[in-house]
Amino acid sequence: MASIRTWMRLALLAGAAMIFAAPVLEASAGVDLPKIEKGKGEKCVEETQFMRRNHMELLKHHRDETMRKGIRTTKHSLKKCVECHASEKTGSVAASKDDFCASCHRYASVKLDCWDCHATKPMKKPIQVAQPSPRMDLAKESVK
Ligand code: HEC
Ligand code: HEC
Ligand code: HEC
Repeated sequence: MASIRTWMRLALLAGAAMIFAAPVLEASAGVDLPKIEKGKGEKCVEETQFMRRNHMELLKHHRDETMRKGIRTTKHSLKKCVECHASEKTGSVAASKDDFCASCHRYASVKLDCWDCHATKPMKKPIQVAQPSPRMDLAKESVK
């Protein structure tokens, strides 16, 4: 009796595990990507293949450099990404689920906080920050 119950519980667990594991496997296999709008211009700031895999590193690295050392190069600027990748339809990279950054991230279950501060549309207005970040306070202190 007890062993049948144990079996049933195991079977249920195995079923649940398969349901939860499936999307993760699909995403990491990188097949069936969503239809992605092509960027403006001839090519990206780096090879497309490279960008597909490494754009997050470029952006994060760039952000650290900018924030810590005050370095600002424009090659991997987030503003530039938005200028070239904003959708024809919405004018944004993440306003609709089909927009460039959003479509792919939705598929890969990535959530960005970038758009809390950074514009998803090309524009001239400087970005707005509600509160100075802790890092910026640190920078000020070390300058004195
Ligand atoms: C709390 C607000 C805030 C959030 C959230 C935020 N940033 Fe920033 N970011 C800033 C500020 C302020 C600057 C410096 C101002 C500037 O250079 O325009 C900056 C600058 C940058 C720069 C260099 C300037 C540029 O336009 O390229 C990059 C790259 C960048 N952020 C990327 C990101 C990415 C990627 C994310 C999400 C993972 C993100 N940021 C999230 C506030 C934020
Ligand atoms: C000068 C315009 C331009 C800029 C600036 C630009 N891109 Fe691109 N990007 C393109 C084009 C065009 C393609 C498609 C190239 C192709 O089809 O081979 C592309 C492709 C990509 C891809 C691969 C998409 C796919 O089909 O898999 C990613 C990811 C990407 N860009 C991210 C970025 C990020 C992040 C930035 C900012 C750091 C950026 N791009 C800046 C024009 C640009
Ligand atoms: C070809 C698909 C694709 C496109 C297009 C794409 N991304 Fe990504 N992005 C990913 C994947 C997949 C990850 C997660 C990688 C990982 O987990 O290591 C990611 C992660 C990121 C991260 C790091 C998130 C974190 O919390 O670590 C940032 C920042 C980012 N993307 C920015 C952008 C921006 C900005 C755009 C639009 C200009 C964009 N991406 C377009 C696939 C894409």
